[in-house]
Amino acid sequence: MKQRMLTGDRPTGLLHIGHYVGSLSARVKFQDDFDVIVLIANIQALTDNFENPKKVNLNIMEVLKDYIAIGLDPKKVTFVLQSDISEIAELTVIYSNLVTISRLMRNPTVKSEVIQKKNTFSNDNITYGFLGYPVSQAADITAFMADIVPVGDDQSPMLEQTIEIVRKFNKIYGDVLKSPKIYLSEVPRLVGLDGKNKMSKSLNNVITFKDTESELKKKVMSMYTDPTRIHKNDPGHTENNPVFIYHNIFNNNKDEVKEMESLYREGKISDLEVKERLFSVLNDFLLPIREKRCSLEGEEDSLYEILKEGTKKGQNIAKDTLKRVKDSMFLTY
Ligand code: TRP
Repeated sequence: MKQRMLTGDRPTGLLHIGHYVGSLSARVKFQDDFDVIVLIANIQALTDNFENPKKVNLNIMEVLKDYIAIGLDPKKVTFVLQSDISEIAELTVIYSNLVTISRLMRNPTVKSEVIQKKNTFSNDNITYGFLGYPVSQAADITAFMADIVPVGDDQSPMLEQTIEIVRKFNKIYGDVLKSPKIYLSEVPRLVGLDGKNKMSKSLNNVITFKDTESELKKKVMSMYTDPTRIHKNDPGHTENNPVFIYHNIFNNNKDEVKEMESLYREGKISDLEVKERLFSVLNDFLLPIREKRCSLEGEEDSLYEILKEGTKKGQNIAKDTLKRVKDSMFLTY
């Protein structure tokens, strides 16, 4: 039997190429080798969007289109809608006894998200639900008995927290839960178009799969580069320069990248030229995805069918896990 790979995303907006290098590419790459489950985490999305339920609802379809457009094959991959797996909610309550509040407050991902979302949360109004989302994520992962979870590096504290919960559960109640392995991608974090350390929708520095060619061009041409370089023949810096970081990730012609880097350092190639090359590289990568995504417009009914089918399969797995959990805790009457 194939090992199971579990991943998920909050449907709060379009996915972007930062997600791609973080964990989407692993799902595409491994869809033949693993039993891949992709969870559309709409309940988790509410933890920081409880006032925007309609937005979360509308983005379920957008995210599903992104998945299929990037090449996840619905015949191989199981797409599951979190809100239809009530077992996850039950497991969350059960696990909540195994986690201290101070541990949750020390979770680096929670901490940095609270800072980032200062419009939604400040230190004294963080909700119980948001603070506890690592617990519900542990429920996601264990409900489906995941062997491996590919993540961008901002999510690895979630996995560590899950592993702690599993260890504690198994120690107290018996060997029931599976401890997941983290799979960290080669490029766990992508810098934003503006040079900020993370590509993120809320920072408005992303390239999405829905961007048109002209939007892509506009974004690439206005990318942050080397602020110390004023004239074309000033020697430039390639390290920490997003244009070169992207070239190194997306441009398959490594010799060309090396050559552009040395020309740039010598002040012999303009920002305009390296950006134009980058636009063309990214466009080659995104064109088929964009076209596929476009072709899914109007296919919403069959996409919902795919999600329904996958969710049914997910329900069966989660039901089985919950039964074993309850048995081990003398909760079966
Ligand atoms: N926390 C993830 C994010 O913000 C989404 C997610 C929910 C997830 N459940 C998961 C990721 C389980 C991996 C495994 O994108």
